[in-house]
Amino acid sequence: MPQQTAWLVTVILVAILAATFLRIVSTASSSAEYEPIAKRATSWRPRLFWLLALFTVVVLAFTLRRLPYSRGDGGAPAQVVRITGSQWAWQLSHDTVQSGQPVEFQVTSNDVNHGFGIYDAQMRLLAQVQAMPKYTNTLRYTFAAPGRYTIRCLEYCGMVHHEMRTELIVSGPAAAVTGGGQ
Ligand code: CUA
Repeated sequence: MPQQTAWLVTVILVAILAATFLRIVSTASSSAEYEPIAKRATSWRPRLFWLLALFTVVVLAFTLRRLPYSRGDGGAPAQVVRITGSQWAWQLSHDTVQSGQPVEFQVTSNDVNHGFGIYDAQMRLLAQVQAMPKYTNTLRYTFAAPGRYTIRCLEYCGMVHHEMRTELIVSGPAAAVTGGGQ
């Protein structure tokens, strides 16, 4: 909805700008005629500036509130899984989560940069985030279906990079254990 509003506002502003531009082009033929117009425009400038500034603040407040992304999960509580990458293994705080409920992966590294990537059984990449030393990246993902998922490293991190993978089990919501995870 904010995107549509922003789009509409942009279209209207561009239309106003174009109309103003065309009017100036069609009316201001000589510099003598232009003088009073210029004066009038100049006198309006500070008011116009503050009006635009106010307008910008309102529009930004309205449209940027939902950034970075709309999560699309209705704000359901997340299952938190802490992930630590190190040469050459993934360490998971727990390896079972539930489908249909958002999972929040808190991803970091013990040594060098790794790439945390989740693949389904068909080896399609579902989500990925960088695993960085001394920094925790958050990745939210909701598994649509139960099953066995594979976590792989997406960034070359040394000799045994290709062996850096582990399994994540996603159970159905029916098998849900209260308390989330485990
Ligand atoms: Cu870790 Cu490649």
